[in-house]
Amino acid sequence: MKPEEVLELLGRMTLKEKIGQLVQLDGGCFGAGDVVSGPRAKLGVTQEDVDVCGSVLNVLGAEEVHRIQDAYLERSRLKIPLVFMADVIYGYQTVYPIPLGLGATWDPDLIREDYALVAEEAAADGCMVTFSPAVDIVRDARWGRCLEMSGEDPCLTSRFAKAMVEGFHGDGTPARSVASCVKHFAGYGAPEAGREYNTVDMSEWRFRNEYLPPYKAAVDAGADLVMTSFNTIDGVPATANKWLMDDLLRGEWGFDGPVITDYAAVAELIGHGVAADAREATRLAMGATVDIDMKTACYAHELEGLVADGVVSVEQVDAACLRVLTLKNRLGLFEDPYRGCSAERREEVTCTPDRLASARKTCGEALVLLKNEGGVLPLSKEAGSPRVALIGPYANSRDIIGMWAIHADKSRSVTLAEAFEEVLGADGFGWAQGCKMLDDYSELGEFGKYVGVAAGFGAGADGGEKPSADELLAEALELAERSDVVVMALGEHMLQSGEGGARTDITLPAPQKRLLKRVRELGKPVALVLFNGRPLALTDVADDCDAILEAWFPGTAGGRAVADVLFGDVNPSGRLTVSFPHNVGQEPLYYAQFSTGRPAKGSTHSGRFVSRYMDAPNEALFPFGYGLSYHTARYEGLRLGSDVLHAGEKLAVSVDVVNESQVAGTEVVQLYIHDLFASRVRPVLELRDFRRVELAPGEKKTVGFELCEEQLRFWTREHGWASEPGRFEVLVGPNSRDLLSAGFELV
Ligand code: BGC
Repeated sequence: MKPEEVLELLGRMTLKEKIGQLVQLDGGCFGAGDVVSGPRAKLGVTQEDVDVCGSVLNVLGAEEVHRIQDAYLERSRLKIPLVFMADVIYGYQTVYPIPLGLGATWDPDLIREDYALVAEEAAADGCMVTFSPAVDIVRDARWGRCLEMSGEDPCLTSRFAKAMVEGFHGDGTPARSVASCVKHFAGYGAPEAGREYNTVDMSEWRFRNEYLPPYKAAVDAGADLVMTSFNTIDGVPATANKWLMDDLLRGEWGFDGPVITDYAAVAELIGHGVAADAREATRLAMGATVDIDMKTACYAHELEGLVADGVVSVEQVDAACLRVLTLKNRLGLFEDPYRGCSAERREEVTCTPDRLASARKTCGEALVLLKNEGGVLPLSKEAGSPRVALIGPYANSRDIIGMWAIHADKSRSVTLAEAFEEVLGADGFGWAQGCKMLDDYSELGEFGKYVGVAAGFGAGADGGEKPSADELLAEALELAERSDVVVMALGEHMLQSGEGGARTDITLPAPQKRLLKRVRELGKPVALVLFNGRPLALTDVADDCDAILEAWFPGTAGGRAVADVLFGDVNPSGRLTVSFPHNVGQEPLYYAQFSTGRPAKGSTHSGRFVSRYMDAPNEALFPFGYGLSYHTARYEGLRLGSDVLHAGEKLAVSVDVVNESQVAGTEVVQLYIHDLFASRVRPVLELRDFRRVELAPGEKKTVGFELCEEQLRFWTREHGWASEPGRFEVLVGPNSRDLLSAGFELV
C-alpha cells in the first residue's frame, strides 16, 4: 500500500476498530495453544474484542498462523491482517548460545549473520515481529535475566544491539526478515538488589551515560518497535512515563514506530500504585504514547469511554493506530497476510546444515576458558589416550538451550555425551549423572509449559528411572575411579535464570558442589564445564578443578561446540562481558567503577578507611573481558600517534600482539579510556573499541585503532553529550585487568 492508502484506510475505521489495532492478545483468545511467558492477568475479553484485535502474542507455527489469520480475516470488516509477534530471542529452532554467550564472542558481525539466519527460519514459520533484541545493561548477577543480554558494558552492548537489529532485518524480503522490537525500555537491567520487577532508581547522569546508549543504538539501526519495561524511572513506571516515551524516545531520538508494553504492563500500573483502576492506567499509558497494550483488556475496554469523555483525544488514538498500520504495511501484510510462511518453507529452512554449522561456529566463539592449569585442556582424542569420564547433571541433558528459547524443540539439541561419542566412540568414554540438579526443586515453582518442574522434572539427565542420590554418586565415583581424566558438566537448573529467576545464592547448586568435591578427592585431573545463565560466584569450586570452561546455555549445537573446544578442534576465544564475582555480596559488580575519593589502591588514608570490603576483594574473580585460549599472547609497545588530540581529528593507537605459542588463535584486543579529570566523576575504565585478531603460531601483528573526540564524550546535564579538554589515559590489553597504558591530552 502507498502511505496515502494507509491514511485512507484509517479514515474508514470506526473508533472501536482503531482501538482494536492497539490491543495484543495471545493465542488462547484465538483458540490456539498458548505459550505462557511472564505474569498472567485474567483478561475477560469478548469475541468482539478479538474480532478487531490487531496483533497476536507468541503464536508460531505456519499452520496455526494461517488458521488464525484466515478465521480472523473472514470475520473482519476491513480485512486488516493480524500481525504475529513472538519471543524469538537467540534462535528459533536452531538455537544459538544465550545472549550472554553471544556477547562473549565479541563478534557483532558474526551475530548479525546469525540473526539473519534466525529471521529466515522464524519467518518461515509465521514470526513477523520478534521481541528482540533485549539490550538492557546487566550488572547484578542476582538478576535472572542476565542471560538475555550481551553484558555489562554500554559500548559493547550497543554494538550488539545494532548488529542484532540489522540481522533480523536481513535482506528486507518477507522470507528473510522479521521486524525487531528493542526492549525493555528502559533501565530494566538495574532492579534494586537484583530482584525481578523491583524498583529501578538511578540518576539521569548514569541513565544517559550507561543504560540508554544501547537502546539508542538499536533505534538508530532501525528497530521497528520499542517495548516498555516493567520498572519505574524516576518514580514513574516506564509504561506511564511520558518523559521517557514521548519526550526522549520520540522527541529526542526521533523514533516513529509503535511502542508496545511488556506483558500486562498497563494493568500493572495499578499495582505500581500510580493508577487507581484500568481507566486511569489506560489514560496514563496513552498519554505516554504507548501504542499497543500487550495482554490486558485495558485499552480494549477503557479507551472508548476515555475518548467519549474527551480525556483521550481521537487524534491520540489515530496517531497510535497509524503507527500500527504503518508497521503492517511495511511488513507487506496487506499484500500477503502470512508473509510467505508455510509448512513447506519451514521444512526448507529449519535446522538446515548451514544453520547448525553456524550455531556450532558461534558457540565455539562464545565459550570462555576461565582456568586451565597444567594444560589439562585440550583433551586428547587419539586412540589409546587417557580415558575420559563425563560426569554431572548436564552430561547428557538437552536442557542446554536455556529457558528463553521458548518455541524451540529441544529434542534437536545434541547433548555433551552424544558429542563425546562422535569424537571418542561409545567405548572411548563413560558418562554418569552423578547427582540431582538441585536438592530442592520447590523454589522453581511451576513454569508454564515446563510442567512438573517443582517435582524435579526436566533440566537433568534425560529420561529413565530416577535412581537414588547414593546410587547416582556411587556410579559416578566408580566411573571416575577407572578413568584418567574427568569432565564435570555442572550448572544452574535451566529455570534458575531467566525471567523471574532472581537469586541471592549465585554459587553452583549444593548437590553439584558435593559431587565435585567427592570426585576431586580421587586425585584425577578435573575439567569443569559450566552451564548457566548469569555470572556465578565460583570461589568455592575454582580450586576443585584444573580447568573451567564457561559454556553458558550453548544451544542446539552446544554439545558439539563444547566438545570442539574440549578436544582442541577449536581454540577458545570467548571473553567475559560480565564480571564474575568472588561472592554475591559484591553485586552489583562491574569493571567500569567510578573514581572515589578514597580508592582502595592509591589513597593516602590508612588501610581501613578506604573503599573496600573487609572480607573480600573489590575486584572480580574473573574480570570483564577475561578469557584464556590454548595459545598465549604478549601485548607490547602501546603507542599513540600524538600526545595531543584535537576535536575533529583522530588519534592513532597501536599495540603489538605476539602469539608466543605454537598454536594458532584469536585475541580479542580491547581498548579502554580513562578520563582523568572532568566536571563530573568518570569511570576508572571505559571500553571504547575492540577487535578480534587472528594470529598464526609465533606471529606478531600490529593492531591499530583510531580514537576521536566523540568517543570521549559523556552526558553533562548542561551541554548534553560533550567532551571536556584535559588528560586522558588510553589502555589496551586482553581484558579489563591486564592493560598497557599511555596518556594524551584532549585540546
Ligand atoms: C517479558 C518480555 C517478553 C514478553 C512477551 C514478558 O514477560 O518481560 O521480555 O517479550 O513477556 O512474551
